[in-house]
Amino acid sequence: TAAEKGGFDSFMLKEIAEQPQAVADTLRGRVGENGEIVLDEVRMSDQDFRDIDKVFIVACGTSYHAGLVTKYAIEHWTRIPCEVELASEFRYRDPVLDRSTMVIAISQSGETMDTLMALRHAKDQKARVLSISNTVGSTIPRESHAVLYTRAGLEVAVASTKAFLTQLAACYLVGLHLAQVRGIKYADEVASVLRELVATPEKIDSLLEKMEEVRDLARQFSACQRVLFIGRHVGYPVALEGALKLKELAYMHAEGFAAGELKHGPISLIDDGTPVVAIVPSPRGRSLLHDKIVSNIQEVKARGATVIAICEEGDHIAATHADHVIFTPQSPTLLAPLLTAVPMQVFACELASALGHDIDQPRNLAKSVTVE
Ligand code: G6P
Repeated sequence: TAAEKGGFDSFMLKEIAEQPQAVADTLRGRVGENGEIVLDEVRMSDQDFRDIDKVFIVACGTSYHAGLVTKYAIEHWTRIPCEVELASEFRYRDPVLDRSTMVIAISQSGETMDTLMALRHAKDQKARVLSISNTVGSTIPRESHAVLYTRAGLEVAVASTKAFLTQLAACYLVGLHLAQVRGIKYADEVASVLRELVATPEKIDSLLEKMEEVRDLARQFSACQRVLFIGRHVGYPVALEGALKLKELAYMHAEGFAAGELKHGPISLIDDGTPVVAIVPSPRGRSLLHDKIVSNIQEVKARGATVIAICEEGDHIAATHADHVIFTPQSPTLLAPLLTAVPMQVFACELASALGHDIDQPRNLAKSVTVE
């Protein structure tokens, strides 16, 4: 009903707006006064975490994209090899795991059958299973050795938004915790990332206030045949998520690519006016990555693309090359998806509204898929 939507036109819009709170709730009580991560409810000892020599992340849909982002964070902070796999592929591939493997199963609903079957396979192989879920007492957490709950609250819209951001927050906590208990060499970095993580909800809030221009853009592009998304590093999974949102809501052909792969094929899709959304990494620090995506923007522009760049505030270089620019607040590279994903959600939601689609209940989709 209208009251349940809290004055918004759809649950999805309401849930997008709830993201600062949802992320803050997910972090609350889990960051100690001295910058230590407190995961008391995760029934895994520090020694258990130290014994891990490999991490697998299994998930589906948007949760899989949260997993892809997490790989960059875990490998960088902990130096533990981390693989991410679609849950539906995992057990059929005969993956290599044993008791020193940690499998992280990410599932908003906690009921996705593909993810559950992957989890059971991991347990059969004696791996330790930690689940990240938004649904207390659901099957996946119940069957896991340990669980870290996201605190997004009930998510009604089929297309996941606030659950995704809280999954990222929870996964960052796990990565930082792993780094801390293993006493890795980036201790200072871990402490500063943690401070930045805690500051993110406020940044999401300020970002949400500037979404009118994203909505304008979305309406301008609503007659397009397709939209391409490109990104590098953690911007790559955000590109995949941006494309998934458009498929889910606007029933539009949308693809996400690693920007470096363009030249190996996808660039042939580009002709006059093809919209390309580029997720641009911060120009501070890892400027090599930034230079590379600026070149990619130039490459697609040269073939006629219309580029919408999602850039960090102050990034005038990328902004001058793009046709349209959406600025996001400054953040460390690894945490940027908590911000860059937001305009992707708003873009898809507004574009689908312009097409007259049902935002909360897209055709053919279910909130939780309990068949394999
Ligand atoms: C369904 C939903 C997606 C979701 C996926 C995984 O396909 O439509 O939005 O990302 O399931 O759901 P889970 O509950 O396991 O995170």
